[in-house]
Amino acid sequence: GNDSNRRNPFILPEYACQRATCLKHYNHKFTRALEILQNHAELRDNEHDSSRALAFRRASCVLKSLPFPLTSMSQLKKLTNIGDHCKRVIQEILEDGECSEVTKLQDDWFHKMVVFTSIFGIGSATAKKWIEKGWSTIKEAQEGHISSDWRVKWAFHSDLNTPVKLQEAQYIQQIVRKEAETILPGIILQITGGFRRGKEEGHDIDILMTHPEDGKEVGFLARLLHRLQNKGIILCGNLEKSTYSDDMLTLDSKLSAKGQLDHFEKWLGIIKIPQSCSETPARDDSGSLSNIGSCDHKGINSVAHPTSNTASEQPLNYQPFNLHESFEDLESKAKKQKLGTENELSPMELAKLDRNWIARRVDLIVSPYNQYFYALVGWTGNKQFNRDIRTYAQKELGMKLSSHGLYDLNKNCALPARSEKEVFENLKLQYLEPWERNC
Ligand code: GTP
Ligand code: MN
Ligand code: MN
Repeated sequence: GNDSNRRNPFILPEYACQRATCLKHYNHKFTRALEILQNHAELRDNEHDSSRALAFRRASCVLKSLPFPLTSMSQLKKLTNIGDHCKRVIQEILEDGECSEVTKLQDDWFHKMVVFTSIFGIGSATAKKWIEKGWSTIKEAQEGHISSDWRVKWAFHSDLNTPVKLQEAQYIQQIVRKEAETILPGIILQITGGFRRGKEEGHDIDILMTHPEDGKEVGFLARLLHRLQNKGIILCGNLEKSTYSDDMLTLDSKLSAKGQLDHFEKWLGIIKIPQSCSETPARDDSGSLSNIGSCDHKGINSVAHPTSNTASEQPLNYQPFNLHESFEDLESKAKKQKLGTENELSPMELAKLDRNWIARRVDLIVSPYNQYFYALVGWTGNKQFNRDIRTYAQKELGMKLSSHGLYDLNKNCALPARSEKEVFENLKLQYLEPWERNC
């Protein structure tokens, strides 16, 4: 009617970093369909060619920014980033309420791919191979992978596929903060990722850390991990040393090793947290923090970590993999419960075992202070926002943006930032709040 005429044709800035994109918007029925197409393209296409997938995502992202529900194709006339394929999809949804192509895509193959790629560490290439072998369920994949490494993985699979709640993220932040402040007073610690963008659930907990005094952060992460390990809450993880050097500000990010988005020192791992902490809000006193200790008292993780004692003051004793120890705890408890049974327990049985903790994926990242606000933007995301703002910097300003900084390729100089707002200023962009970066 009149309303849609008034909005016809509607204009939006070309780049997502030039407009707000929020979790709640007016066009979910279109964006859901476009993101299924994106997801399918990601799974089907070669991992090194994401162009089809990204075209769907960019179109979806435009619709998320529209300040009204789309009701006619004419409203799309002046919008960029919506190609012919996406237009057909949108038109069909406008006319029929759904798009037949999207319905057809959600076949057996797609569902199997979604299930397999939901396993931590399994990408589309492996998932495809499994399907070629004729597997279609987690159970079949489990039966095909029975080495001890895999048994450990399977035992935590259902935990890691249960969404992480905001409360759990805040709980982990409290634990990490308490240990971090003991090692390095004045440390700055920030939850980033989806929770910072306002999501109530996520697949992991991202925590970015820095210290305002230059150089204080060096060696800090290993000491932090050592303390967390002594608390008995680390299941497994991988500490990656910083690989940063100043010339990386100018280098093309695509040249970096496969899958690596930045060069910070970081730990990607799995931590156990009390199951109760997603029910009762965590309190900021030691009583609540010792919750984790109560896991041990109940005998679930009673194996002492051999490095625990005063060694926490020494720099490096962090042992990257003690997952097997925790796993053996689980198994021995299971055997006690099933007294008399000599049969091996299946990973499913182990996962369902009565225990008072749940395994959670945690990313801990350490940045030097002079890169911190760029790191904050990068680790807040989302991923699509990062792609967009980096492309914008390159194409519109001739600047190279990364989580380490911003470099003017014409003037050959770096542009430092002392706040997130300054990052946006340096990029000649209006500031967007974290929750406006849900592209
Ligand atoms: P959920 O965890 O599913 O809630 O979403 P998320 O947005 O938090 O995603 P994720 O934890 O994978 O990443 C958080 C943000 O960090 C994203 O915007 C990533 O693009 C960004 N990021 C920056 N550097 C890296 C990196 O080296 N590895 C990963 N995985 N993400 C990075
Ligand atoms: Mn995350
Ligand atoms: Mn993460």
